[in-house]
Amino acid sequence: MIVVYGLSIIQNSTFKIGFTMPSLYAIGVGPGDPELLTLKGARLLREADVVVAPVADPGGSSLAHTVIREFLDPPRQQVLTQVFPMRRESADLEELWTQSAMQVIEFVQAGKKVAFVTLGDPSLYSTFQYLYRQVKRLCPDVPVEIVPGVSSINAAAALADLPLGLGDERLAVLSATSPPDVLHRALEDFDTVVLMKVHRVFVGLRELLAAVGLKEKSVFLKRVGLPGQAVFRELDAVGEDDLDYFSLIIVRKA
Ligand SMILES: C[S@@+](CC[C@H](N)C(=O)[O-])C[C@H]1O[C@@H](n2cnc3c(N)ncnc32)[C@H](O)[C@@H]1O
Repeated sequence: MIVVYGLSIIQNSTFKIGFTMPSLYAIGVGPGDPELLTLKGARLLREADVVVAPVADPGGSSLAHTVIREFLDPPRQQVLTQVFPMRRESADLEELWTQSAMQVIEFVQAGKKVAFVTLGDPSLYSTFQYLYRQVKRLCPDVPVEIVPGVSSINAAAALADLPLGLGDERLAVLSATSPPDVLHRALEDFDTVVLMKVHRVFVGLRELLAAVGLKEKSVFLKRVGLPGQAVFRELDAVGEDDLDYFSLIIVRKA
């Protein structure tokens, strides 16, 4: 048995909490433009009792919250942030995610509808997955519904006016922080390659793209749907100030 803030959660598959409706919703809010929030996401946000928004640092602001602010009703709804630091998995992060999961579980056990908001789509490199893993571990009976959102990949492809795949073409999505041989192989094997999280490794990546003859086939997009949005069809035009966390590269061979 695990005691969570004075409440008891029994980890036993025969124990059923009496929910009739899903009570934790992961809502993908899209890449930044509030008009790209789905109708379902907007409805569930209005219905939520508690809205949880991730921040990278204590006291920091949440972009996901900024995107959905206009859909909320603060006097009625409780809005809170949870810290999800942007670094590799470690024991202290596990502990933090566990505490966040416990807080969410406590709300759900109190009969509240909880909406966790996340940029883009909740299934694509999302902070939500770290919370979700702990919720499932601590209390597998908590009903969870994942509401898909428009990912930055889709929004970037639309803005760049590039198809991601046609016919039997192959599409790869990778973190640009992957080892060079993994990046190299993907660039060789796939027709379209989307490279996420490029800001810290951009210079080396540009060199790699030039070495494999794909620099001219690459488009760099930053802050899609957000203030400061920009599209660079020439990687050499990307300056240090453009290397925003919210940036990606689409490599399209065709
Ligand atoms: C942790 S992942 C989150 C992805 C998100 N769940 C999605 O569906 O787009 C963060 C990375 O996604 C990309 N990204 C997210 N939002 C973006 C935006 N508005 N414009 C450009 N890239 C974005 C960047 O590569 C960034 O480093």
